[in-house]
Amino acid sequence: MKKLILALITAVGLVAGAQASEGGLVWDKAPNKTNDLASLQNGAKLFVNYCLNCHSAAFMRFNRLKDIGLTDQQIKDNLLFTTEKVGDTMKAAIDPKQAKDWFGGNPPDLSVIARSRSGHGTGADYLYTYLRTYYRDDTKATGWNNLAFPSVAMPHVLWELQGERKPVYAEQEEHGHKVEIFKGWQQVSPGTMTPLQYDQAMGDLVSYLQWMGEPSQNSRVRVGVWVLLFLLGLTFATWRLNAAFWKDVK
Ligand code: HEC
Repeated sequence: MKKLILALITAVGLVAGAQASEGGLVWDKAPNKTNDLASLQNGAKLFVNYCLNCHSAAFMRFNRLKDIGLTDQQIKDNLLFTTEKVGDTMKAAIDPKQAKDWFGGNPPDLSVIARSRSGHGTGADYLYTYLRTYYRDDTKATGWNNLAFPSVAMPHVLWELQGERKPVYAEQEEHGHKVEIFKGWQQVSPGTMTPLQYDQAMGDLVSYLQWMGEPSQNSRVRVGVWVLLFLLGLTFATWRLNAAFWKDVK
């Protein structure tokens, strides 16, 4: 019986696995740097400079960035527009209605975006892949297309950093007919960053987006450990106390 159940579980697992790998792009694994303050600070800078034009992060106040090691003064000098205050939430520069008219799509709030997608990996893997798979496509209104999000309405806002790339496909026989298989990238024009630097920068940006989705996750892990230790201590004390109470009765 046990063997049968085990076999069933394995079979279900295999089917689920096969479905996950079927069709679509396999997402690249995002590096996890949510505990690395230098990375988070770099990610915050990229986010404010390149994303906040169109996206908001309504759950995020600028002064929360002190949690990743920035001072009020640094936040003021480097990350705020002149009219903003450190206690403000992160609001998009663009009016959402205008964005809809210009891009044909609403830039979603990015506060919790890292938690909102999963499929071929985690939400972070998706973001990491998405931000690195833009390519030129003149048939699109923005001039750009994306492998992780085909026909996306968002242009490649980081193209000066990454340069222009184009996907390379190879034809392959599959079940008797030819299919195009994605093979890799060809750099068409260089960006200001090398591919390695760009990947690292995107790792930082995604870590920041993850942190923003759950800014207290680091402290929560720490608190959790203390809570567990406390409960362990309490259990021990209760056990000893219990033994002491009943000693004379027995
Ligand atoms: C010029 C305006 C603009 C800027 C700047 C911009 N975006 Fe977007 N973004 C959009 C629009 C419009 C959409 C909606 C796309 C759609 O629905 O097709 C979008 C969608 C997204 C999505 C959702 C994708 C999905 O799967 O639903 C993510 C994630 C995202 N943007 C991340 C970013 C990040 C990170 C930056 C900064 C590097 C950024 N965006 C900068 C306009 C912008």
